Amino acid sequence: MSNVFVLNGVNLGTLGTRRPEVYGTMTLDDIERLVKDEFPGLDLEFRQTDFEGEMVAFTREAASSEGLVINAGAWTHYSYALHDALEALDVPKVEVHLSNVHRREDWRRHSVISPAVDAVIAGMGARGYVAAVRYLIERNGSP
Ligand code: DQA
Repeated sequence: MSNVFVLNGVNLGTLGTRRPEVYGTMTLDDIERLVKDEFPGLDLEFRQTDFEGEMVAFTREAASSEGLVINAGAWTHYSYALHDALEALDVPKVEVHLSNVHRREDWRRHSVISPAVDAVIAGMGARGYVAAVRYLIERNGSP
C-alpha cells in the first residue's frame, strides 16, 4: 500500500465558500473524499494548515512517505522556507493548484517552490489532486 502525503496551505481550509468561481464549490473535506474514493487502498495523510512553520514540519514528516502532493496556496509565490524544506525532501513531489495560476494576476504566475518539485499541475480543479496522486502511485509502481 502506498503512503502519500497531501498537504494544503494557507486559506485552503475555506474552500467551498472562498471565491467559488475560481476555486469551485468543493470543500477540502470533499477533495479528501474524492481522492480516497479514487484510491481506496491508499494510505493517505491529508492535511491543511495556515501556519508556515507547521507546513515545513509536515513537509519533513513526509520524508517517511512514498510521495507528496502540495497545494501551498499563497506561500507558493513567496515562501523560500517552503522551497528549502521541499528541496531537502527526497521523495517524489507534485505541486498542485486548483486554478490556472497562469491565467490570473501576474504575481501568481511565479512559483518559488516549483524548482523543488518534480511536477506541477494547475487549472484542473479538484481533479488535479487525483492526477497528482495517480502520477505518484504509477511512478512508484505500486497499486
Ligand atoms: C492556489 C493558487 C494560489 O495563487 C492561491 O493563493 C491559493 C490557491 C490554487 O489552488 O489555485 O490559495 O494555490
